[in-house]
Amino acid sequence: MRIDIITVLPELIKSPFEASILKRAIEKGLVEVHFHNLRDYTTNKQKSVDDYQFGGGAGMVMNIQPIDDCIAKLKDERDYDEIIYMTPDGETLNQNMANGMSLLKNIIILCGHYKGVDQRVRDHFITREISIGDYVLSGGELGAAILCDSIIRLIPGVLSNETSALTDSFQDNLLSPPIYTRPADYKGWKVPEILLSGNFPKIEEWREQKAYEHTKNRRPDLLEE
Ligand code: ADE
Repeated sequence: MRIDIITVLPELIKSPFEASILKRAIEKGLVEVHFHNLRDYTTNKQKSVDDYQFGGGAGMVMNIQPIDDCIAKLKDERDYDEIIYMTPDGETLNQNMANGMSLLKNIIILCGHYKGVDQRVRDHFITREISIGDYVLSGGELGAAILCDSIIRLIPGVLSNETSALTDSFQDNLLSPPIYTRPADYKGWKVPEILLSGNFPKIEEWREQKAYEHTKNRRPDLLEE
């Protein structure tokens, strides 16, 4: 998979890809992530990438020209499955969407900044708009990092034990059951006996039951879906 991230602040989004699972996924060649600084594409003398809103109003709007040129250059080089715009009014990211996107070959992610992008960018270039939740961030970069993390860890071969993605919360619309590690008794707080029994079918049954109860208590909406 190849991900091209278009941003005015590449320094804000690079570090999550330089550690742990994402770093290893890149090193293993399972995903390529490229950053494109919009300022490198602007044709105006001041190198500005934003301007005042037509009609008045607070906040700057990102210009269409550098975004058009950057996307056009990328599209000349390869086909893209999706051109995503990070915005609080997009569809809210969930595990189902991440699963689907982990199967794509090439995607572009455009990070909004200031008030956002000129509407014509959304009308003519963007194929999907994604929010990471009902709150407003200063820009799309942190959201894009979260989106990338949720997708990349699902690419086959990225997690050393593939089943660990399959048992994540939200996979199959269930939250994860409780987990424990050594010691089995800490200050009298004991690990459930069943987990020490070695009876794996029974352990699996216990985990399913706990996952169901946990989901019912915390997120009954998931069971309705
Ligand atoms: N940009 C600003 N807020 C955002 C959000 N909640 N999700 C995605 N991108 C954003």
